[in-house]
Amino acid sequence: MDKISVADARKAEAIGRQVRLQGWVRTRRDSKGGFSFIELNDGSCQGNVQVVAPGELTNYEAVVKHLHTGASVSIDGEVKTSPAKGQATEVLASHVALIGDAPVETYALQKKGHSFEFLRGIAHLRPRTNTFGAVARVRHQVSMSIHQFFHERGFYYVHTPIITASDCEGAGAMFRVSTIDPDAPPKAEGKVDYTKDFFNKPAYLTVSGQLQGEAFACALGKIYTFGPTFRAENSNTPRHLAEFWMIEPEMAFYELTDNMDLAEAFLKRIISDALKFCMEDLKFFAERLDNNKELFTKLENVLNNPFKRVSYTEGVDILLKSGKTWEYPVSWGVDLQSEHERYLAEQHFKCPVILYDYPRTLKPFYMKVNDDQKTVRAMDVLVPGVGEIIGGSQREERLDVLESRMKEQGLEPEAYSWYLDLRRYGTVPHSGFGLGLERTILFLSGMANIRDVIPFPRTPGNAEY
Ligand code: 4AD
Ligand code: MG
Repeated sequence: MDKISVADARKAEAIGRQVRLQGWVRTRRDSKGGFSFIELNDGSCQGNVQVVAPGELTNYEAVVKHLHTGASVSIDGEVKTSPAKGQATEVLASHVALIGDAPVETYALQKKGHSFEFLRGIAHLRPRTNTFGAVARVRHQVSMSIHQFFHERGFYYVHTPIITASDCEGAGAMFRVSTIDPDAPPKAEGKVDYTKDFFNKPAYLTVSGQLQGEAFACALGKIYTFGPTFRAENSNTPRHLAEFWMIEPEMAFYELTDNMDLAEAFLKRIISDALKFCMEDLKFFAERLDNNKELFTKLENVLNNPFKRVSYTEGVDILLKSGKTWEYPVSWGVDLQSEHERYLAEQHFKCPVILYDYPRTLKPFYMKVNDDQKTVRAMDVLVPGVGEIIGGSQREERLDVLESRMKEQGLEPEAYSWYLDLRRYGTVPHSGFGLGLERTILFLSGMANIRDVIPFPRTPGNAEY
């Protein structure tokens, strides 16, 4: 008797084997012939295995006929060829043990479909649904592909800090980390005295591992980080989380075009691996989600065509000439909104777009200033259905320019003295970018809301579980 997964029990190779399967009942159907069908799922794949429980089982009347959706069971039996359509195998049970019941009166996840909004309210149970099981498996595969992609190319995985005193993006949208008693804070000159706090200075949850990543890229050549990042911006949109996962490669001796090449190869690898290893789950997304029939065409298109590379200035020209009326009007110098990014990727170019050379006023201090003095070597990758999925740049490697950019943005160079050392000693041209993991899952699956592609979403007003 081998303990095997439902995924393995569904394969024709399993036919004839005596196996033990352990999982949760999705549904039970009693046949007039005096036996029951149990649809069993253990999370190993999208599909269930059909278990035939004969009436001769000693606990048939007492237990099998009362198995509820959600109950956990351990089933011994033989894998057989299934006469039913759409499945290679089924399992003829010789023993069915109930492990834990799920009373039908109170268990929220009954057979009927539930709205994603309802499921957000039971985020601890939603991984048991088809959709959220699929999201979790795809998310796992994407994470593995990311590590493999970089490992194969000689990048080192670096663990950058989660608690930091540096504001990487210079936007100030950071969560404070403090052990000061908010009811009785130590004061100096009328203000809270953070020199008495745990770290003897103000500290925050990181918005990005980039600055520390640069220190390692300027020693190991090519590195990447893959960790949680936090943003205290009050954006209640289907594309923003307060806690999300970001992958940030950083490469010494890379210019912006090298950075673009890497970003494109990286996204394509994630897509091709998903098509190779997550077919069953992707098919489920394509068939079951609204407006998602074109999922495979979209993914194949992205995979098989070069990304369009356009400067911010050209992008703004296209938007101005589009004849569209925008919720947020466009002109040179304004930050592009989701509606603009999506127009470029979805309607104008109908493919991913790498927009580069943004106005210096829109982007953080660390981006390299172009010779025109007006723009910086920034690049955003915009994809159909999502908009911005990657943000990156070539970094400013000139000490004096970097210092003046900091001052221009109201930052004190002394506070970033360690970062400036990277330019004082052996400075090199270098580049990197950040990919949002959840935006990637949105793109791959066609799911509409970022709250539904992370296990336990954190958004303004919501930190349940
Ligand atoms: O464009 P961002 O802010 O870039 C950085 O943080 C740089 N330090 C990256 C780098 O150059 N190393 O963020 C990068 C990506 C975005 O393109 C988006 O995919 C994702 O992170 N992202 C978010 N995802 C979910 N919720 C949010 N609030 C996000 N903010 C950014
Ligand atoms: Mg960005």
